[in-house]
Amino acid sequence: MTKKTLTFGLLILFVINTLHASEGMWLPILLKKYNIEEMQQKGFKLSAEDIYDINNASLKDAVVGFVRLSSPFHHFCSGEVISPEGLVLTNHHCGYGAIQSHSSIEHDYLTDGFWAMSKEEELANENIGVCFLRRMEDVTNEVLNKIPENATKEIRDSIINAQIEKIETEATDGNELSAKVKPFFSGNEYYLSVYEIFRDLRLVGAPPSAIGKFGGDTDNWMWPRHTGDFSMFRIYANKENKPADYSEENVPYKAKRFLEIAIDGVEKNDFTMVLGYPGTTEEYLPSFAVKLKTEVENPAKIKIRTKTLELMKSDMDADAEVRIKYAAKAAGIANGWKKWIGENKGLKRLDALTTKQELELEFTKWVNQSDDRKIEYGHVLANYEELYKKLEPHQLALNYIYETLFSTELLKFSRKLQALTDITKGANDEKNQETLNKLISNTKGFYKDYNLETDKKIFSALVTFYYTDIDKSLHPKSFQLIDKKFKGSIDAFVDYIYSKSMLPYPEKMQAFLEAYSYRKMKKFTNDPMVKLYYETINIYASSIYPPYKQYHSEINELHRIYVKGLLEFQKDKVLFPDANSTFRIAYGTIDDYEPRDGVSYFHQTYLSGIIEKDNPEIYDYRVPEKLKELFTNKDFGSYGTDKKTMPVCFTASNHTTGGNSGSPILNENGQLIGINFDRNWEGTMSDVMYDPDMCRNITLDIRYVLFIVDKFAGAKHLVDEMTLVNAKQKRQLP
Ligand code: ARG
Ligand code: ASP
Repeated sequence: MTKKTLTFGLLILFVINTLHASEGMWLPILLKKYNIEEMQQKGFKLSAEDIYDINNASLKDAVVGFVRLSSPFHHFCSGEVISPEGLVLTNHHCGYGAIQSHSSIEHDYLTDGFWAMSKEEELANENIGVCFLRRMEDVTNEVLNKIPENATKEIRDSIINAQIEKIETEATDGNELSAKVKPFFSGNEYYLSVYEIFRDLRLVGAPPSAIGKFGGDTDNWMWPRHTGDFSMFRIYANKENKPADYSEENVPYKAKRFLEIAIDGVEKNDFTMVLGYPGTTEEYLPSFAVKLKTEVENPAKIKIRTKTLELMKSDMDADAEVRIKYAAKAAGIANGWKKWIGENKGLKRLDALTTKQELELEFTKWVNQSDDRKIEYGHVLANYEELYKKLEPHQLALNYIYETLFSTELLKFSRKLQALTDITKGANDEKNQETLNKLISNTKGFYKDYNLETDKKIFSALVTFYYTDIDKSLHPKSFQLIDKKFKGSIDAFVDYIYSKSMLPYPEKMQAFLEAYSYRKMKKFTNDPMVKLYYETINIYASSIYPPYKQYHSEINELHRIYVKGLLEFQKDKVLFPDANSTFRIAYGTIDDYEPRDGVSYFHQTYLSGIIEKDNPEIYDYRVPEKLKELFTNKDFGSYGTDKKTMPVCFTASNHTTGGNSGSPILNENGQLIGINFDRNWEGTMSDVMYDPDMCRNITLDIRYVLFIVDKFAGAKHLVDEMTLVNAKQKRQLP
């Protein structure tokens, strides 16, 4: 090959690369500047204003972030408005808490599903709401331009905080909106987001878990996938269509914008985009941090959770009641566990450490080219190395205390019970009774899902991890009993705590609470489990968190400088800011992938695959009879395809992360084709390093949603609220 053809070849490769690289979660207000051309090249037919426009309703006005009202700027999931009357779609796993809270033995909505057949039947929820992004603005200058040169960190931080407060106050002055300024690019840029947060959100529908959670933890993070992971809510507003606390007077929210639904399906290479609220990514970590994560943090957390899951699962397999009690707990633990395993494998496969080190080498060369750069950035990498070395034991101790002692059921329960200490002599009686009543009811809820034997085994395993792996200077005081009284026997220590504490025993606890008065506080604080809880908190607050926090804040400061340098060094590249629970757009194409040698995955799954997985012996793979019937009769309404039955899920190359669950996946016309709910296991390292060949987001096909609502649940009235379109007229519907 001559040099010329080689260059030409490289050029083509480069062009193809940029066309296919779907990396990035972009800001709505910068689409016009950075992305729209590439999006249109990939097939997008609309303009940047169609996505984000503050003067007219645009697609962003049909996208919501799910929030707990107690922390309104952290979006635990995303969702989309799909009718003029404020009907919202999200994932089943996002609505799970709400569905569970309305469930009881008589109405087991988790098992049987729930469908409001009229608006009167829709169920109100406590503490959750949805937000709309009404406006976003770059406020970097305002936040940073008052900082004098050579300001100390303290001065810098206090000016930044004051400026942020001023901007947020001004943005919400005289209106009912909520405003939040967040740092981007590690504090090199700042953006203001202004939200309208609706507080009356009602549950409209959810399929049974055998559909909404089909495949459970077995299939979680995996492709091929067949989970019907959706649930439906409705936003309620006051008569002025404004946010209001729950009230019977409230009416369905009149949507500023809702999504049309395209029901003619997807093909490989079709344009797709995802709008929503990705939570956290760490794409600009230095090699030292990647090393700490992959070699220290992830292995420790994986080791601990492997043991917990093993113990939990064996009890769950042996006893149906335990299985129900521990299903949600196991799911939560397994979700992170499986992700970290995938992440470590992916980062290893990508040789992420070497890639980062090579980048750092190039960066250093660039720094050394100028004296100014040497002054500004010359120290960064050496300081990183030193700080990460110092951080390591503290980071590990922090991970350990969270994953072991703070993860035991009874220390968590102790934390809730702490409210008892608010009940003091001379305090307001009515308030005391209220606190107590709340605790009594929380306690019932706690024991509903508690099994002493399972908990004790796990407690013992977790204490053993902490006792063995963490330095004695960081042990809670009670651990001295292990050394002195019990001659090193952790089992004897655990037996002692479980025989002396009242927390493992529902009747004792209930009786204690019912007769509680401030005179009994000593009995509470002297309980050996509660004592252990306070000691653990003490150790954490005195010796684990402070050094961790200290090194971390020094690292954050370095990070700001390093990322500034990276942005300068890679000026010709457009970098995206890490996810931080603000509104983002990711775009890519419908795509398949090859997970390993000799294996190629198709981008779409079908109902026939659910029937193949059907196995009454395996809890995760039980298929409801009605679904089997619909399959046998090919009764797919107008939602199926002619050849392959009923589509269920598909993969695409959009860069997504936790928080993007429930996000709308839109086609080239901005119409809804599916609901995002997961990523593939081989691609979970995308939070740290994205691989265009391997990273895929997993989407629930909207046609399966409609089929379940209409044909399975008989809730056609909900489909009637929506606007279904045939986007690519040329394709024939059966
Ligand atoms: N992996 C998905 C996410 O991170 C889905 C989790 C819920 N499903 C489960 N089986 N635990 O949120
Ligand atoms: N399942 C995740 C969520 O709940 C999405 C992901 O991590 O890809 O947001």
